[in-house]
Amino acid sequence: MRVVFLGAPGVGKGTQAERIAAQCHVAKLSTGDLLREAVRNQTALGLEAKSYMDQGKLVPDAVVIGLVKEKLADPSCTKGFVLDGFPRTVPQAEALGSVLISKNMALDRVVNFQVSREDIVRRLSGRRSCQKCQATFHVDFAVPKVSGVCDRCGEPLVQRSDDRREAIEMRLKVYDEQTAPLVSYYQERKLLFQLEASGTVDAVFQHLSQELAPYQAT
Ligand code: AP5
Repeated sequence: MRVVFLGAPGVGKGTQAERIAAQCHVAKLSTGDLLREAVRNQTALGLEAKSYMDQGKLVPDAVVIGLVKEKLADPSCTKGFVLDGFPRTVPQAEALGSVLISKNMALDRVVNFQVSREDIVRRLSGRRSCQKCQATFHVDFAVPKVSGVCDRCGEPLVQRSDDRREAIEMRLKVYDEQTAPLVSYYQERKLLFQLEASGTVDAVFQHLSQELAPYQAT
């Protein structure tokens, strides 16, 4: 199964990518998680990416494309992958297409998550994340057992620096200008599935699992 999860910030791509990858035993590649890890480890890539991410802008294509190419070459991706947050620009989509052709592979589906702007702002402003294991919670919709503590690894939960209101506004603007054109890009290639993603996490997962069932290994 080779799928891309597309959609504005906060629509639930990461939450569902985690569940689908676990259910289908495929790799989850989240460029946001990879970049945040590089920032935490203060690598050269992380230092370059940080200022873009804090402002809610996209990290330059060349940096992100290099990162994804490296990860797709990993044996963990042989059985399939869910790409969460990549591609995000037309040049990134073209680079992904070339990499897959060179490996004799093709995408099965591109899922476009759709949620109202009002719900997106509510989801992002209430999100809390674990910096150690990347698990995601929400103050109203995915409440941890102990307030402010990760259920999975016990580390403190934090608010992402780009979940402040000004950064959210910038991320939505960047999405409209640079990522939304990918909807028609993949529609033209007959890969797009429009997912109404405003229901509960479980309801969205059920709908998504049904749609992706034909691509799961038996
Ligand atoms: P990234 O981490 O990819 O952020 P994003 O796309 O803005 O997506 P989010 O992680 O904010 O949201 P999501 O859709 O995954 O929602 P989630 O499941 O967490 O990227 C961050 C930055 O890195 C970018 O701004 C950019 O700078 C850089 N970057 C990354 N990729 C790049 C690329 N390809 N090119 C260039 N730069 C790149 O859910 C959100 C909240 O809602 C959570 O609290 C969750 O618990 C809750 N929730 C989820 N589903 C539901 C539901 N159904 N009902 C209620 N609540 C829900």
